[in-house]
Amino acid sequence: MPHACGLDFGTSNSTVGWLRPGQPTLLPLEDGRDSLPSVLFFHAEEPLIRYGRAALADYLAGYEGRMMRSLKSVLGTSMIEESTELMGRPVPFRDLLAHFIGELKRRAEAAAGVTFDRAVLGRPVHFIDDDPAADRLAEDTLGEIARAAGFAEIEFQFEPIAAAFNYEATMTAEALVLVADIGGGTSDFSLVRLSPDRANRADRRDDILANGGVHLGGTDFDQQLSLATAMPWLGLGGTLRNGKPMPSGYYFDLAAWHTINRIYTRKARAHVMDNYRDAADTAPLDRLLRLIDDRSGHWLAMQVEEAKIALSSSEVTEMAMDRIAPGQTLTVSRPAFDAAVEKPVARIEAAVRALLADAGVAAERVDTVLFTGGSSGVPVLRERLSALLPAARKVEGDRFGGIGSGLALDARRKFG
Ligand SMILES: Nc1ncnc2c1ncn2[C@@H]1O[C@H](COP(=O)(O)OP(=O)(O)OP(=O)(O)O)[C@@H](O)[C@H]1O
Ligand SMILES: [Mg+2]
Repeated sequence: MPHACGLDFGTSNSTVGWLRPGQPTLLPLEDGRDSLPSVLFFHAEEPLIRYGRAALADYLAGYEGRMMRSLKSVLGTSMIEESTELMGRPVPFRDLLAHFIGELKRRAEAAAGVTFDRAVLGRPVHFIDDDPAADRLAEDTLGEIARAAGFAEIEFQFEPIAAAFNYEATMTAEALVLVADIGGGTSDFSLVRLSPDRANRADRRDDILANGGVHLGGTDFDQQLSLATAMPWLGLGGTLRNGKPMPSGYYFDLAAWHTINRIYTRKARAHVMDNYRDAADTAPLDRLLRLIDDRSGHWLAMQVEEAKIALSSSEVTEMAMDRIAPGQTLTVSRPAFDAAVEKPVARIEAAVRALLADAGVAAERVDTVLFTGGSSGVPVLRERLSALLPAARKVEGDRFGGIGSGLALDARRKFG
């Protein structure tokens, strides 16, 4: 008998939900945990691919190989038609995504003891900002990838709508709710009318007042924090002996999860060496070369991400740089983080304003703001979004599981 699941393929974390009475909706995907970090590690010495936390562990243990994180960020960029070199041969990014989604399917099926041939896939409101044709193409591509991974029938649902359905299952009275799903790659918003009664309706189109979002999320905060802290320590913002600024291109690649591996190409290293010969101060570039030769790019990004997460609950934190320079740390304060992420935060805030304008709903009429997604933990963002909706009650969704659970609800509605 065919079964249908809800699949939340996230930039940072993925979940699979299956609705059964009396049982938890999210399926265990790794060591009993109901999420699989969206990470792959390809071993160099043997034909072995590791996933999720195990992939992170092998990379950190120093195995030779290739780390891949934030693969979803490749959707909707020209990279999706490109390949990356793995074990000396080019592998299309499409195949890597299909591979990861296939692994999610296999693990979910093993946990559920059934086959899932149909799925409701979550999608951000915008894969790409301000380009409907490219956005459509990104959804089509994700659909093709999911079919290549073995799903015969696929429906899509906006991720914040899935979060709304999951929250609705806990409600006792009607409310106008703004869902704010701030994830790893995108910030997505839906303004929805939810109630226990409405939850039983098959067609919810009238209850969805507006959707909106931007292609900005936690990985962008990581990138901005890295550009403000770790990258200057590796030479960004330095000068050459002729007084010109240090070329900055590869620092941007290194600060963004999905382009880190570019720094390991021969061409990139040669570029760093050219700058080395002309640099006024070579110490930062010595550190950069050490990072390249030790393949520490993802490790550095993890230090930055950990610092960001620590700053959600502390005013100041230390980033240990010991894998590159033993004993060295960089101190980062909350105000420095807030300043580094001001631009993306302002754009996310503008997306909420635009959504309210689009819906023709005054901010005061919103009863509830539902915060979900890992990056909804960022204090400056919460403050700014809360200030936009002063009258609304702030509710915490299931930060990492709400979308997958809501997609499972939707899968039952759509596929029975
Ligand atoms: N306490 C915290 N404070 C700030 N950021 C956090 C916190 N916990 C997790 N994050 C960030 O949340 C992001 C992951 O969130 P989530 O799992 O919701 O994303 P995702 O669903 O994989 O991404 P998307 O939905 O955008 O594709 C990461 O960038 C992570 O660093
Ligand atoms: Mg998400």
